[in-house]
Amino acid sequence: MAALVRVTPTGTSTWMSMTPMETESQELGCRHAVGQVVIMGLGMGWAAANAALRPEVTRVTVIEKDPEVIEFVRQSAVFAQLPSEVAARITVLNDDAFTYIPDQPADTLMADIWLPLFGADRDEEVRRMHANTGGRRVYFWGQEMVIAHRARLAGLPLDTATVAQLVADMRLPLIGPGERPDYPELIQTAAARWLKPANTPQPA
Ligand SMILES: C[S@@+](CC[C@H](N)C(=O)[O-])C[C@H]1O[C@@H](n2cnc3c(N)ncnc32)[C@H](O)[C@@H]1O
Repeated sequence: MAALVRVTPTGTSTWMSMTPMETESQELGCRHAVGQVVIMGLGMGWAAANAALRPEVTRVTVIEKDPEVIEFVRQSAVFAQLPSEVAARITVLNDDAFTYIPDQPADTLMADIWLPLFGADRDEEVRRMHANTGGRRVYFWGQEMVIAHRARLAGLPLDTATVAQLVADMRLPLIGPGERPDYPELIQTAAARWLKPANTPQPA
């Protein structure tokens, strides 16, 4: 299986792999990306390639802060395997997700710059990015875990009304509730597998 793993003297960090969890957890964002897309975090380029494959997407700008990751994707020729007109839509910039400002506001912002799937305050980080990029639609990696975690903490059922309220509280135009009527059930299924009970340490 292909994987992007950084090996250091103190351990390893898996940034991306072709496990079902890694791809399924980005699928919704890729499937609903439109127009000018800004993607935070290159990784293996999977999300960028899949967003660019959509005819509704005109441009994909990927922001990656690690030059070695950019070089890895260049050498592995991921985008060269796409149809040439699709590859031509993708631009990779060496920049920081928290400071990058596009020339014109994005239509879709997708953010995936984290190692663990769950981050309790991740929406705050995404609001910082969104303030810089704009984006009529936003999808961030692990958003379902944040929603499920907050529902659990509040003792609320994961139903349509709870999800709508928790998403509204995030003040981000999230892809998910409007696109998938079964989004609460999808969150439930994913959280049962990947989110530990509230108030216990979450998996890295
Ligand atoms: C989980 S991987 C992205 C995987 C990617 N979505 C894919 O489909 O292959 C996260 C990437 O974000 C990058 N990254 C981490 N912090 C960043 C930041 N502040 N700005 C830009 N890139 C960042 C990492 O170097 C890594 O390449």
